[in-house]
Amino acid sequence: MESKRIETFDDWKDLFGVWQKDIQYDTKLFSKVLDGYEFTEKFAEPKQAEIEFGEFGGARKWKDIGEITRPEVKDLLLKLIAIQGDTEFASVELQRKLLGSAPTEKDLRAIVRINAEEMRHGWQMSYLLVRYFGDEGKAEALKLLERRADNKERLLGAFNEAIEDWIDFFTFTAFTSGCSTAVRRSSTTTPSARATC
Ligand SMILES: [Fe+2]
Repeated sequence: MESKRIETFDDWKDLFGVWQKDIQYDTKLFSKVLDGYEFTEKFAEPKQAEIEFGEFGGARKWKDIGEITRPEVKDLLLKLIAIQGDTEFASVELQRKLLGSAPTEKDLRAIVRINAEEMRHGWQMSYLLVRYFGDEGKAEALKLLERRADNKERLLGAFNEAIEDWIDFFTFTAFTSGCSTAVRRSSTTTPSARATC
C-alpha cells in the first residue's frame, strides 16, 4: 500500500477502501449476501457516569485523552486499542480465503457477515485512534491497514497463522480469547456472533 499520512478520519476511510482492494476482498458480497452493511462507529451511553473501580474509582469517566492524568494510562490505552484493531483486520486477511469454499449458502452468508463485522470493529478502533490519540494515534491507525497477516506482520502470533480451510477456522474461533466462552453460554449464538466476540 502506498504510504500516506492521515490527517482526518475521512483520510483513513479512503485508505480502508484501498486496503479492501489490496487484499482483494470482493465488497460486492456485502450487498449481495448481507443486503448492505454499514461501516460506521457506534457508541452507547455509559450506564454510569463515574469510573466504577480501581485507582480512579468514583471520578467522572474521562471524555477525552486530556483528562487522563497519568501518561502511562494513556500509553497503555493506545497500545490496547492498536492491538485490538490489528486483530480485526488480520482476521479478515486470514478468513477471506474461505469465501471460495463455503460448504453451504448459510456458511457463505456467515463468513461474509463475520468479515464485515470484523472490518467494522477495526474501523471502530481506528476511529478511536484518529479521533483521540493525536499524531501517534493517526500513525497507529495507518499501520492497522499496512501490516499483513500473509506476511506474518500482525501484532499477535495467532493472527499470522494461515487459515486454509474451515476446520482451521473452527479451531481458531474456538480457541481465541472470549469466543469459546460465548459459544458455551449460548446454544443459539450465530456463527457471526461467535466470531466477533
Ligand atoms: Fe472483532
